[in-house]
Amino acid sequence: MRLNAVYRIITYSMLSFGVLILCLVYIFKMEGITQLENFPSTISESLDMDGTTCYLEPLRNTDKYYNFILFPTAAWCIDEATVGNYQVCMDNITKSNCLVYSFGIANHFDFDDSIVQLKDCQVHSFDPTMGVDDHKRGTNIQFHNLGISNYKGSKTMSYIGKKNINTQVDTLYGIIQMLNHTDDNIDVLKLDIEGSELDVILDVAYNYPKLFKKVKQLIMEIHTLEEYYWHTGNSVSTTLADYWKMIQILECQGFHIMYSVKIREWGNIFTFKDKTNGKTRSCCYETSWIKK
Ligand SMILES: *[C@@H]1O[C@H](CO)[C@@H](O)[C@H](O)[C@H]1NC(C)=O
Ligand SMILES: *[C@@H]1O[C@H](CO)[C@@H](O)[C@H](O)[C@H]1NC(C)=O
Repeated sequence: MRLNAVYRIITYSMLSFGVLILCLVYIFKMEGITQLENFPSTISESLDMDGTTCYLEPLRNTDKYYNFILFPTAAWCIDEATVGNYQVCMDNITKSNCLVYSFGIANHFDFDDSIVQLKDCQVHSFDPTMGVDDHKRGTNIQFHNLGISNYKGSKTMSYIGKKNINTQVDTLYGIIQMLNHTDDNIDVLKLDIEGSELDVILDVAYNYPKLFKKVKQLIMEIHTLEEYYWHTGNSVSTTLADYWKMIQILECQGFHIMYSVKIREWGNIFTFKDKTNGKTRSCCYETSWIKK
């Protein structure tokens, strides 16, 4: 009898879990059927960044954005390696003399551990959502219970699987100051931060454009619909237009896309259909950017 009850509970739990997942998929597929709204702007913008003027053109259709994301153009990396879950160009990373900032860990230190193994870099790992205090992880890795955003202070974060976590965040500039890295290059900046990447890159562009020169390589997850769109409530077209601006800023500052792949977990769930061309487009990409 008792065993029966246990089986029943297990079966019901599994069924409810299944139904929940189906609902989630359904909701986002529904979202996907909605018509794209008009793009927010038709005006070009010019942005002066540390002596370089960048001309930013508005996004007028989704093809422009997706053709960029889907077809990497930087083909000059010789030693491209998979490090943890990310694609890194190892060419100019000097062994035992390299600095890596890794934002967004979620208890997976594979990237951080591997880059130490391969290149003996100094790694600073950041994640304010794990509930883990600052600590040293081996001699080369310092973990910080801190996030990155476009301001310094506290931030309540929510995302899939976690709700309303109180965190502390700082800007890239603030973190560089804090760690005394004002005179050092950052060989690899990894941002796997669930939609905040847009805030971070725009903050650097508008407030500390000099920092783009310090960063030699950028590994970044792009989340156009899944998180950013969810949290801000902006339409798909507004969000894509914002990301298009971010892309043009990076290009203007010398970053070129070397690698791009749809993120396995969410890339097929968070999609929308662009009725102007019939194409189903994805939210999320894993990207790597190098300089010439
Ligand atoms: C940065 O430098 C200051 C002043 O030299 C020092 O007090 C501080 O401990 C240093 N911080 C780190 C993280 O090394
Ligand atoms: C590595 O550095 C050299 C010399 O500065 C440069 O020409 C080359 O493009 C760099 N490669 C990458 C992938 O950054």
